[in-house]
Amino acid sequence: MKFDKQKHLLNFEEMDSYHKDFVEIYNSLENDSSEAYKNVMLKILEQTRLHFCNEEELMQKYNYPRLKEHSDEHKKVLYEMEYFINGANTKIGRNILKSYFLEGLPNWFDTHLLSMDSDLSSFLKEKTNL
Ligand SMILES: [Fe+2]
Ligand SMILES: [Fe+2]
Repeated sequence: MKFDKQKHLLNFEEMDSYHKDFVEIYNSLENDSSEAYKNVMLKILEQTRLHFCNEEELMQKYNYPRLKEHSDEHKKVLYEMEYFINGANTKIGRNILKSYFLEGLPNWFDTHLLSMDSDLSSFLKEKTNL
C-alpha cells in the first residue's frame, strides 16, 4: 500500500500524520504467515484507536456537525478489526483476517479518507483558518 498524495493527503497536518503512520504500519508486514498478519493487525488496531480518538477530539473541540455519523463509522471499524483479529484462531478465521487486511482494509482507508475525513478536514481548515 502506498501513501498516495492525490488520494490520501488532506492538508491538515494532525490528521495526515496519523494517516501516514497507518500506511507505514500496514507496510511493516514481515511475511506471508498468519502470525505476521495477526501481528500487523494488532499494531494497526492500536494505532487506529489513537487516530480515531484524535479525530473525535477535534470534532468535539470545533463542534463538528457530523460527529455522530463519523464516530459511529469509527466504532464500526474498530469492532470489525477486533472481530477479525479474535477470529484468527481457526484456519478459516486466519484466511478471513488475511483477506480483510489485503482488500477490506485498504478499500476502507481510501473510502473513509475520500469521504468522511475529507469532509472533516475541510471543516477544520475553515475553522482554524489554515
Ligand atoms: Fe482518519
Ligand atoms: Fe475518520
